[in-house]
Amino acid sequence: MIPKETIEKIFDTADIVEVINDFVSLKKAGSNYKGLSPFVNEKSPSFMVSPAKGIFKDFSSGKGGNVVSFIMEHEHFTYPEALRWLAKRYNIEIEEEELTAEQIEAQSERESLYLINQYAKDFFVRQMLNTNEGQAIGLSYFKERGFSEETIKKFELGYAPQGSDNLTKAATSAGYKLDYLVKTGLSKTNERGSYDFFRGRVMFPIQNITGRVLGFGGRILKIDKKSAKYYNSPESPIYNKSKILYGLYQSKNEIIKEDQCYLVEGYTDVISLHQAGIKNVVASSGTALTEGQIRLIKRYTKNITILYDGDAAGIKASFRGIDLILEEEMNVKVVLFPDGEDPDSYARKVNFDDLQRYLATNSQDFIHFKASILLTDAKNDPIKRAETIKDIVGSISIIPDQITRSVYIQATSQLFEISEQALLNEVNKRLGVKNVVLQKEQAAFEQQQQEKRIPQKNTNNGKHLLDVQEKDLIRLMILYGSQFITIEVENEEGELEEVNYPVAQFIIEEILSDEISYINKDYQLVFDEYLDGIQQGLVISEKHFTHHENSNLNRIVIDITTQKDSVSNNWAEKHQIYPVQESERLKDAVIQSVAIFKMRTTENMIADKQNALKHEASNDTIMELLETIKNLTMARNLFAEKLGIVITR
Ligand code: CTP
Ligand code: MN
Repeated sequence: MIPKETIEKIFDTADIVEVINDFVSLKKAGSNYKGLSPFVNEKSPSFMVSPAKGIFKDFSSGKGGNVVSFIMEHEHFTYPEALRWLAKRYNIEIEEEELTAEQIEAQSERESLYLINQYAKDFFVRQMLNTNEGQAIGLSYFKERGFSEETIKKFELGYAPQGSDNLTKAATSAGYKLDYLVKTGLSKTNERGSYDFFRGRVMFPIQNITGRVLGFGGRILKIDKKSAKYYNSPESPIYNKSKILYGLYQSKNEIIKEDQCYLVEGYTDVISLHQAGIKNVVASSGTALTEGQIRLIKRYTKNITILYDGDAAGIKASFRGIDLILEEEMNVKVVLFPDGEDPDSYARKVNFDDLQRYLATNSQDFIHFKASILLTDAKNDPIKRAETIKDIVGSISIIPDQITRSVYIQATSQLFEISEQALLNEVNKRLGVKNVVLQKEQAAFEQQQQEKRIPQKNTNNGKHLLDVQEKDLIRLMILYGSQFITIEVENEEGELEEVNYPVAQFIIEEILSDEISYINKDYQLVFDEYLDGIQQGLVISEKHFTHHENSNLNRIVIDITTQKDSVSNNWAEKHQIYPVQESERLKDAVIQSVAIFKMRTTENMIADKQNALKHEASNDTIMELLETIKNLTMARNLFAEKLGIVITR
């Protein structure tokens, strides 16, 4: 258990903007910050952080919460895991008793897998730096490749010894379960027992964007035809290869700063470029680029430059990756290295200035790149030439933005000496094919919505109005619950007396005295929590909910107190003015909201009874129902009268 004081300290220390900025690139917007949602793929920012309230709200996915719930959502952590993560981030010590065997057992599997990878990484580092074998074989290999001590440390490189089960033995005797060692792929088992998967290899830990180790790449030292150059950890519950980029943890700040990301193929390319001073670089680690990886980069920049080896055998296979980047509305450039060189070898060969100059002068946009590769094959064959043009037009028509498309059409027109109109026709033809399909889908969708809407109007409108009112009442409780309003009440002598009431108490008494409960389960939950707190003598504020352990409550309350337009720049101003006005006429607002709520509740009850009437066969019950409806209608009209609403029927 983490002590309550420590939890409070974590909440007080953790700066929500700073923490979220580790994952999302945020820009200031009025008194808030906004950015692209890390939970869904989107083009315009609908993710908002309010430092004043200590909350975030993602209007695309509907998620919202405080700094702890953000870490829970984003890292798939439990509540204590998220607290521990933040404590570590801010160097807050958590004093808790030693874990018992059962507690270790109960820790989540994911956390255990992280811990084991962390242990293995430290083990490989220790083996390389502190053992004779490690120094003689592992460290000297890296030194020979020109990696500095600083670089080795930065990428936490290590060495897996040649023995058959050094890691497996060390880890199990330190208390780690063999089961988890096998799940992370670090150990293997057969009929004779268990052994290490990585043996006699230099080790590259693969980290997620927060630096947690998810797996490893292990490179063999001698080129040996019988064994693969790299062994890689398998996928596991914490390691999804299509959503990881090697080096992103070390590069992300530089990518934001440069507003550009270099994409290479190998671990060593990333490391060498870093050491040479090009630090905005990541690797897809030998696999074809995936949509998930592109979206990871898109969080930080829209500009990708792919660096290819000179002997580009796999370049054509990479065209699909280029199309994926274009589809994400990102800009893609390409740099080809001289024959026989890869980014790693080239970075070691020349100095920083030359490297930078090479990258700048040799970067081509994707059209010229694709054309040059395809035209080498096509030579002067007109049919192949036409195919090449069609291929490039195919890529252009993937680009969602029309202006960008026309820029590329221009470039292609010049390059191939074809009229822009002919190219445009071809692009439109392709888009047209797509659009017909889209239009059909759209029409079907609209029809469906229409069909849903018609009955909704008749039967659910009352429920909807009530829901709106329940929300308003809860909102008033949360925002102004502890403020006082002056109400006139009759005392024992029958005289009117002015009494100061906290808003929350007034609302609660009004609702409880009429034995009304909320229809919306979410709002009922908030109401109960509020009541509970008041009964314990607590002063409940918005913060009570936004900092609550129950992330469901965080979400509901943030939904209630934030509005869709709060992402716009002038929201802060708008929002600051609004509560002031409301609090000036707070008493009226509260009394009115309670009365409307009661009116809507009665209307809802009337609708229920009328519904029951339709299906009722017994005459007695019908008479009873009619009587109830009559009484409810009278009550409803009374509330309406109080509100000055004229009833037409
Ligand atoms: N790779 C792999 N398995 C292999 C070969 C390659 O997983 N058998 C992946 C690795 O992630 C590697 C990347 O593909 O980093 C690129 O391969 P390659 O260019 O052959 O390796 P380098 O990283 O350049 O390694 P080195 O320079 O040491 O040869
Ligand atoms: Mn290489």
